[in-house]
Amino acid sequence: MPHVDVAGTRLHYHVAGEGPLALLVHGFPFDATMWLDQLSRLRTVRRCVAPDLRGFGASAPTTERTLPMERHAQDMAQLIATLADGDAVADVVALSMGGYVVLALWENHPERVRSLALLDTRAEPDDEEGRAGRDATISSVVQQGRTPLATDLLGSLLAPDADATARARVRTMIEGTRVETIVAALRGMRDRPDRTALLSTIDVPTLVVAGEHDAPTPPEAMQVMADTIPGARFEVVPGAGHVTAVERPEVICDLLAEFWGAQQ
Ligand code: MLT
Repeated sequence: MPHVDVAGTRLHYHVAGEGPLALLVHGFPFDATMWLDQLSRLRTVRRCVAPDLRGFGASAPTTERTLPMERHAQDMAQLIATLADGDAVADVVALSMGGYVVLALWENHPERVRSLALLDTRAEPDDEEGRAGRDATISSVVQQGRTPLATDLLGSLLAPDADATARARVRTMIEGTRVETIVAALRGMRDRPDRTALLSTIDVPTLVVAGEHDAPTPPEAMQVMADTIPGARFEVVPGAGHVTAVERPEVICDLLAEFWGAQQ
């Protein structure tokens, strides 16, 4: 199993293909398997690396009380530096919490980013209600385990007519994520700072993507994000909810292949 040792832990990653490095950063509470279609279909144009973030998936367990976005960003910078040839840069793709992580990566290590694809994410912090919701989710997960969370998230994240395979994959990832990681990640997301002012500083090619039926990060909000990033391209994925890469993998693969192709 490929892995890399970074600041006090061991990260597992999937890798496929040859060529310039692309880094695919998963959302919450998922793992690198959310990118399996992209690894399989984009391997002809990029060396695609999909890590399990610290504490997630097949990466080493962690008992860290909180998993700040900046900690994951530091891990991603180190991963790129370790795996990329030459310039140590990557085309970075990220969904939702992955987007929170790569905005922290842009803030702290912009030299590692050749281009950005921001899927179903936001730069705003949690508001008061959102922060209270994180605390309520922590209590629920600690008391009742992951199944109620999986049921809630399937209802709130996926498009109403998401297919059975997408539902099964999302449930499997949620129920496979360690409780201690879920809790630490919820704290990390709850406490993340506002990064909206950072958007206008992004000066690499950027693709912003929203699912048509994405409830947590609706297309209207993501359009505003795209409008704030100089030169960013904005796309809506028809029929998808929040987990576009799993719900409409072929659309995301086509968009990424075209986006990367336009940069060469
Ligand atoms: C995700 O998909 O990563 C989550 O919706 C992020 C969040 O809970 O804010």
